[in-house]
Amino acid sequence: MKRHRLAVIAGDGIGPEVIEAALGALAVAAARFDFALDIERLPYSADHYLATRETIPDEAVEHLRRDVDAILVGALGDPRVPGNEHARDILLGLRFRLDLYVNLRPVTLLHPSLCALRAPAGGGGRAIDFVIFRENTEGLYVGAGGGLRTGTPDEIQLAEEIHTRRGVERIIRYAFEWARAHGKTRLTMADKANAVPAHRLWGRVFAEVGADYPDIEREHRYVDALAMELVREPERFQAIVTQNLFGDILSDLGAGLVGGLGISPSANLHPGRAGLFEPVHGSAPPLAGKNVANPFAALLTAALMLRELGHPDAAAALEDAVRAAFAAGVTTPDLGGQTGTREVATWIAEHLSR
Ligand code: NAD
Ligand code: IPM
Ligand code: MN
Repeated sequence: MKRHRLAVIAGDGIGPEVIEAALGALAVAAARFDFALDIERLPYSADHYLATRETIPDEAVEHLRRDVDAILVGALGDPRVPGNEHARDILLGLRFRLDLYVNLRPVTLLHPSLCALRAPAGGGGRAIDFVIFRENTEGLYVGAGGGLRTGTPDEIQLAEEIHTRRGVERIIRYAFEWARAHGKTRLTMADKANAVPAHRLWGRVFAEVGADYPDIEREHRYVDALAMELVREPERFQAIVTQNLFGDILSDLGAGLVGGLGISPSANLHPGRAGLFEPVHGSAPPLAGKNVANPFAALLTAALMLRELGHPDAAAALEDAVRAAFAAGVTTPDLGGQTGTREVATWIAEHLSR
């Protein structure tokens, strides 16, 4: 029997509630598909930070680098830590320090009722299904910069955006490889090179790397125009590759098209290493502890993890169970339903065990 070591950081706010739902489904999937998960829970969170002043220690990062097969994260962010320093160290810290350069964020319409858009002119349903490949280790997120004369009328804040040839090339290549492996015919690259000359690197690398993939059409969009087109005609997109900040923003836009943050999963990957899997959403503090948080994003994130761990059948079964819940109207209030977080989790676990 295959065994996988899974580290879990439930985190803050609704994180622990949605993680419980995911772990319940994973236990059922393991029993049905004959694999085992050795689960290790790590305490890193706002509570832990406020109690100890420790965000995530170096030993824990090394442990995650060496000794686990996957990391599952709920959400990080808490109003009691207004500077967000624990979340930056834990979430961005792990993405950077484990060099998880691919942030894969699928945008898939799983049920017609979830679409925020009206039906297309000419009738028929919507078929939205694309993946955003967000570069996850560079761009504006590197934290290069600083403040001068902070708190005075002459205050200056600098944040430098970093794009390296290697960093841009590896995410673009990953996106082309993924497109080819998944039978896609077009990859869209978004930048803002008309205003920011540094972004021309993306265009050059996209053309160079793309020459190795003559079967995939290369399409360029300025990110502002892409945001508009994603709302007007999302079905024409298959895969999108872009820098860190634009990928962050576009993935919430994508989530909004297909049901919102409550259902959008993501994976942080580096081929050959343990990945970090997390819902796109945050800790939603006002919803915490009320049994109303939508667990579908965490459940679909668990499915992404199962696929990466080599269990495509289990992943597909979990995704089918989520689709069945939508079809049966078993949803949380954010989607107009009346089912609680735990009750959705129970429904999914029962459906999956059949
Ligand atoms: P958020 O994702 O927590 O919430 C945005 C909106 O979506 C809110 O209206 C919220 O109620 C709703 N929402 C999100 N997840 C939901 C779910 N599972 N079920 C139902 N509704 C859901 O984003 P925010 O409000 O901008 O940020 C809150 C905190 O989370 C901040 O501290 C932020 O930094 C942090 N954050 C963390 C992550 C992460 O851990 N990956 C991601 C985004 C934001
Ligand atoms: C996300 C979040 C994070 C990001 C925040 C919490 C730092 O918005 O995972 O999308 O910007 O990457
Ligand atoms: Mn985000």
